[in-house]
Amino acid sequence: MTSLSVNVNKIALLRNSRGRDFPKLVNFVERLVNLGVKGITVHPRPDERHVTRQDVTDISVFLKLYSDVEFNIEGYPSEEFMALVSQASPAQCTLVPDDPRQLTSDHGWDVAGNKKLLKDRVQRLKDIGVRSSLFFDPVPERVAEVVSVGADRIELYTEEYASHFGLESDQRIFEKYEATAAMATSLGIGVNAGHDLDLHNLRRFLDIPDILEVSIGHALVVECLLQGLEPVIEQYLAITAGQESESHYY
Ligand code: PXP
Repeated sequence: MTSLSVNVNKIALLRNSRGRDFPKLVNFVERLVNLGVKGITVHPRPDERHVTRQDVTDISVFLKLYSDVEFNIEGYPSEEFMALVSQASPAQCTLVPDDPRQLTSDHGWDVAGNKKLLKDRVQRLKDIGVRSSLFFDPVPERVAEVVSVGADRIELYTEEYASHFGLESDQRIFEKYEATAAMATSLGIGVNAGHDLDLHNLRRFLDIPDILEVSIGHALVVECLLQGLEPVIEQYLAITAGQESESHYY
């Protein structure tokens, strides 16, 4: 069984575009939890363009009410980020080698090249009881490096899988992920996955055994918009036509 962790950054982005607290992020988290979601992910960035530091605090306080829901905070492990993680005390922290100017995460760690930093950050997470995960490219030969820094899990960066899904190259790419996951599992490292996963490509990805968690944000929000379009437009058309219409959402 794989746990779904919903990345709520896009909801925060929508809220930030208007300068008032709508949609309210914690309400969204509450709805997700009530729907049975067992994981919430945020990726706070230094410029707070999506999720803010205050959001991280608010969500962490809210999720303390739900012992079976895991909070995952991901990001570059600067001192500021580590302080936020320490204060929020999530179940898991995913370390990502992203630059503050990057649009989105686009590569995994060069673990050997960042060994000192990662060893320190993984130990500090251990000291405060937070599970560590490293964003990681599908390269089986490099999994052993993860053991040397002591991380509990890797999160496979799945953009390459998603962009090849359904193409001729699909099987060859899938096998890289399969081999990396198998190597990690054999070395006692848990395997998460995320980036560009969606309703079309997720099922096949989960043919890989022992994927513990998938974190999904962008496509999930787009799919909610697409699948919610019909009932919402029907209600607006009813109101503008002067008919009785009851909102289902507030
Ligand atoms: N994992 C990491 C490290 C990410 O940065 C992101 C995007 O914020 C995701 C997973 C989720 O990717 P997506 O939004 O494409 O589902």
